Formats: sequence, C-alpha cells, structure tokens
Amino acid sequence: MLKLSEFLNNKPSQWSNRSRDVARLYKQRAAPAKPRGVILKTPEQIAGIRKSCRLTHDILDMLETRIAPGITTEQINTWVHEMTLAHGATPAPLNYRGFPKSVCTSINEVICHGIPSETRVLAEGDILNVDVTSIRDGYYGDASRMFLIGEVSPEARKLVEVTRECLERAIAQVKPGSTLGDIGHAIQSHAEGHGYSVVRAFVGHGTGVHFHEPPDVLHYGEPGTGMALVPHMTFTIEPMINVGSYEMQMLDDGWTAITVDGKLSAQWEHTLLVTKDGVEVLTG
Ligand code: MF3
Ligand code: CO
Ligand code: CO
Repeated sequence: MLKLSEFLNNKPSQWSNRSRDVARLYKQRAAPAKPRGVILKTPEQIAGIRKSCRLTHDILDMLETRIAPGITTEQINTWVHEMTLAHGATPAPLNYRGFPKSVCTSINEVICHGIPSETRVLAEGDILNVDVTSIRDGYYGDASRMFLIGEVSPEARKLVEVTRECLERAIAQVKPGSTLGDIGHAIQSHAEGHGYSVVRAFVGHGTGVHFHEPPDVLHYGEPGTGMALVPHMTFTIEPMINVGSYEMQMLDDGWTAITVDGKLSAQWEHTLLVTKDGVEVLTG
C-alpha cells in the first residue's frame, strides 16, 4: 500500500482518472505546500493575519492580569488554550512537530520553548517569557512578552528592559529598502553595548500563512547587508538576549533551550507588516 505522501509525489501521468480525483481532494484539504521563497501577502491575507495577531495580543493582555507568584505554568497553558478556542482559533504550538502544549513558557535561564508544567510554580524574582501563536481562519499571529514575577533583581529587570529596547530599535529599522542586516545590527549593537550576548541558535521568521516561512530574521548582522524589505512582507523579530554566553544547550525533552552557563535570558517578539512607507506592528 502506497503511503499518501508517496502517492501525492507520483507523476500525474502515472495516475488513473480516479486516483487523480482522490489526489486533488487530499491536496485541497492539506495545508498549503511549504514555501521556498518569501510570501508577499495579498490584502485579503493581511486582513486575516491582522485578526490573528489581534487575538494573540489580547491573549497576552489577558495573561498580564493573571500571572503572579504561585501560578503554575500549566495554569498559563490552560488560560491560553481556552481563550484561543473561545475565539474559534487554534493554538499553533500544540502538536507542532510534537510540541506537547499550547504555549511556550520560558523561565530565567530558559532561552525559549519551555514546556508548561504542573510542577513549575512561579516564584517571586522569576522572569518569564510567554510565547503565544494563534491560528485564526488559517492565519498565524506570533508574539511573546516578558513577565516579572513579583519583585525581581535589578540585574534581571535591566536585562528585560534592554531586550525590549532591542526589539523596539529593530522595529524602527523596518521600512521598504531597509535590509535584514539593518534589523540584526540594531539588536546586536544595543545588546552588546550593554555587555549582553545575542542568541544565534534561534531566529525570527516570516509568518502569516505558515507558522515559519522564509526569510530567517537574524538578530545580529551588519547594516546594509542581506535581503531588502519590501511592502507586504510579514515576519517576526524575536531577539533572545543573554546576560552571559549566547551558547545554548537543549534539555532531554528535545524542546527546552537553556543557557550553557545558567545565566538569565530574555526575549520579546512581535509579528510585523512592511507597509509602503514603514511598518505596522500587527501584534502591537
Ligand atoms: N512561537 C515560537 C516562535 O516564535 C515557536 C514555538 S514552536 C513550539 O517561532 F513548538 F515550541 F511551539
Ligand atoms: Co516566532
Ligand atoms: Co513566538
């Protein structure tokens, strides 16, 4: 028995009429093929992505009112999952390449992709990143914020603030004619200027029609280099900034990425649209 994937990869000339019909049906139901190039979005796609990004923004706002010391990351997962479904949307992380939960929760030395857990209780002094991605009417909206749990150390607060400034400075570069290198440089120069390092192992990405589309958006680089930005690109910028080394180590769960030296890491993320003369922060 041919696996469906092999079946679809066969040449149409080898198919019977009936097989062709079946293949067409499967293709209509399957997710759109993974793109090889940047997808410039149509006005209709932009409207859909904007709505999805709005939901992601609203979910993060909801969390701002609830996250506190004593809450478990599992509780955050439940809140995100339920609010997403209540809006007729789907949480993109759930079952994405086997990810087991509906949101990523990354605490202190965790760089990204932390897995919510019933046993992880938020404690005074923790810094937490919550990364929400919604799929609404088939369109993706991806954003993350940092949460300070109670009183945190001045060192932790500073890292979170500077990382946020890195994202803001990067967004300020976004307009037609700027390059991806301009974005990376804005982040790297600000972070390293404060003695921090920029994580290399994870990057921003095109998004909107798929979770992760071209191009890769590096958070370091040289001005004037790399792909030029054009109107109707939609992509994330999501710098991960470390107090110590930028090197990462993956835990045995295959997802949780931590700093090798155990020092703090912070991240902020927005999904952006390049407009004809600048940028729209879709998750803003
Ligand atoms: N939201 C993450 C990003 O910014 C991706 C998470 S993948 C998951 O690209 F599987 F961990 F959810
Ligand atoms: Co992202
Ligand atoms: Co994200």
